[in-house]
Amino acid sequence: MRRLLPEPGPTDPAAELAGYRPYESPREDRPFVAVNMITTLDGRAAIGGRSKDLGKGTDTDLLLALRTRFDAVLIGAGTLRAERYGRIVRDPQARARRERIGLAHDPLAVIVSGKLDLPLDAPLFTCGGGRILIFTNHQGPRPETATSLRMVTMEGKIRQADVLRHLRQERGIRALLCEGGPHLFGQLAAENLVDELFLTITPTLAGGEAPRIIEGSLEAPLGLELLSLAEAEGELFARYRLPGPA
Ligand SMILES: NC(=O)c1ccc[n+]([C@@H]2O[C@H](COP(=O)([O-])OP(=O)(O)OC[C@H]3O[C@@H](n4cnc5c(N)ncnc54)[C@H](OP(=O)(O)O)[C@@H]3O)[C@@H](O)[C@H]2O)c1
Repeated sequence: MRRLLPEPGPTDPAAELAGYRPYESPREDRPFVAVNMITTLDGRAAIGGRSKDLGKGTDTDLLLALRTRFDAVLIGAGTLRAERYGRIVRDPQARARRERIGLAHDPLAVIVSGKLDLPLDAPLFTCGGGRILIFTNHQGPRPETATSLRMVTMEGKIRQADVLRHLRQERGIRALLCEGGPHLFGQLAAENLVDELFLTITPTLAGGEAPRIIEGSLEAPLGLELLSLAEAEGELFARYRLPGPA
């Protein structure tokens, strides 16, 4: 991996994130929020209904390194169904590294779902490690899972600002990494709730029907500021800052 911007030179995901401390910058009413996504050159966010195979090894390494820097990881139910998650930080050494920088052993896995039609046989729910918090407006029982699971049932439409306020004020979450998907990112961006975007641009043309990294409308286009850019095996790893509320 080589850094192209701001200072060119050899690097790797761990070095890129060595001084990255998003948990030091929470707002009063929400955590610091970063989104991590991958796109093909023709703007597709999935191939064959999944994003897992879009990126190469460095993309995965960057994602795993990011997960060691946040209090919680936010996942939309569509992404959970498509990607079938396991424990968010599987490597015990990575969990120990989290503790050394003052984070909880496991990040809180936060899921937003209206229907509560979740893949309860996925390792995230069956492995028994880590913690899960589901936000829903479905009036149903809490799923029985081996992994510790809590549920927040909201009245009416779920606004992401309310989810983030709850995470900050009721659960003490200071930094949140959103791993998509496109509908969830669209809502967060529309409500001006995102601080940074980590975007992998993979040198692939996918064609066909697939979502883009944002689905849903924005009131106006958002202009992002490029903070850093790295490259490995033809993939570009960009980090952008989003504009704050107008
Ligand atoms: N390229 C990438 O970086 C990337 C990242 C992630 C995912 N993806 C791909 O994106 C696709 C999935 O897209 P998606 O847009 O469906 O994913 P998504 O944003 O993860 O999930 C959408 C679902 O989340 C729940 N949800 C979101 N906002 C809600 C709200 N305000 N209230 C209630 N429920 C809410 C709903 O779940 P219910 O249906 O349960 O009500 C909704 O159907 C997959 O193909 C996946 O592989 C790509």
